[in-house]
Amino acid sequence: MASERDSQAVEILRGNDRGGYTVPTARLYPFQWNWDSAFAALGFATFDRDRAWREIEGLFDGQWEDGMVPHIIFRKVDPEYFPGPGVWGSTTEPPTSGHSQPPVVASVARWLVETGGRDDERRAHAMFPKLLAWHQWWHRDRDPDGTGLVGIIHPWESGRDNCPDWDAAMQRIAIADDLGAYRRRDTDVADAATRPTSETYDRYLTIVKFGRECEWDHERIAREGPFFMADPCVQFVLMRADHDLMALAERFGDDPARRRISDWITLSDEGVQALWSDAAGGFVARDLRTGDLSPAISNASMLAFYANAGTPGQRDEIVRQARDIFDRCRYVFPSWDPRHDGFEQRRYWRGPVWSVMNWMIAAGFDAHGHADLAKRVRRDTLAMVRQSGFFEYFDPLTGEGLGGSDFTWTAAVHLALLSEYAGDAG
Ligand code: GLC
Repeated sequence: MASERDSQAVEILRGNDRGGYTVPTARLYPFQWNWDSAFAALGFATFDRDRAWREIEGLFDGQWEDGMVPHIIFRKVDPEYFPGPGVWGSTTEPPTSGHSQPPVVASVARWLVETGGRDDERRAHAMFPKLLAWHQWWHRDRDPDGTGLVGIIHPWESGRDNCPDWDAAMQRIAIADDLGAYRRRDTDVADAATRPTSETYDRYLTIVKFGRECEWDHERIAREGPFFMADPCVQFVLMRADHDLMALAERFGDDPARRRISDWITLSDEGVQALWSDAAGGFVARDLRTGDLSPAISNASMLAFYANAGTPGQRDEIVRQARDIFDRCRYVFPSWDPRHDGFEQRRYWRGPVWSVMNWMIAAGFDAHGHADLAKRVRRDTLAMVRQSGFFEYFDPLTGEGLGGSDFTWTAAVHLALLSEYAGDAG
């Protein structure tokens, strides 16, 4: 049954539209964020396809010469935001951050083409070389030894900024002694108790300093930087996006691209096995410096189906874990295993539920014949929003809305779910 809340979703997208790009939420995140825009496009597509395309086309205004698409594009000057372009040492126009975020865009582009018409086809074709260059960048600069696993150089690159997955590697970073004085802005607008500690923040900035000082030489950062981990979110999103890019290459008859993408897919299918943990019962993060695996599963682990990854035995195990977690949470899927002692139901990426992760998790379950699991994930995603509003994330035990309000990607996923799965929406 539709609720009054549903009709607010379109207003939120329009309200966060800054003319060609959308801010994730008005105060906390005042610029364009990479994967936020990909999901925003899914929402816009339900009522304005041209606007959906402009959202993702605009991301490539910030693409670097090496193919990287940065995680933030600083569309305007905002001294209220930290860390801004000066800290990143960005030399591009528009200024950007120095690393990327999970590459969802190819998957959204394919979806727009397959649900659209001639204009969608034309725009996807124009975007194709840029997407290919971005994927190439991941496979080359973030996997310099060709292992089939791509690394991330900063927790922020995972999109799951504060997940326990990064704790051990972050602890090992020696904080640079010349960071200088700085004033964070996130704690001005959000409850400090739910944000990272100041020591963690110093470590974040230590990684940024390393990148800035080597002028974002990504191969050097991959080999020598203070942090290099394989993240199941980036890995699985990229694997899925490679399949979607392949479908576009086939559609456009681009044989050389098809061969390249096919090699990436083969390599990743093998490489991802290095993320499997029998102890955790799923694919987890791995520290690429030490080889250590994370101690527990997260919502990113559930993206294995979305990526078409894993053996039949591994997939059975993931479903078993998923069902057990479903029984423990009123709303799934939590960002950290609730059976593990690192679980915190209200703290940013250490327990709360995110609509965008759920959208991908449900799509994966559906594609692999687990319609009941997909349905539960979608129903919970809609129900949390109807109960609490369009928050950034939600408490999995109570459904309380947390973080920023009137959030773009939460509204966008709500619209996408309503339009795709009307039958499940009750
Ligand atoms: C937070 C999230 C990240 C997101 C950004 C903007 O940093 O962890 O995934 O892209 O907010 O919404």
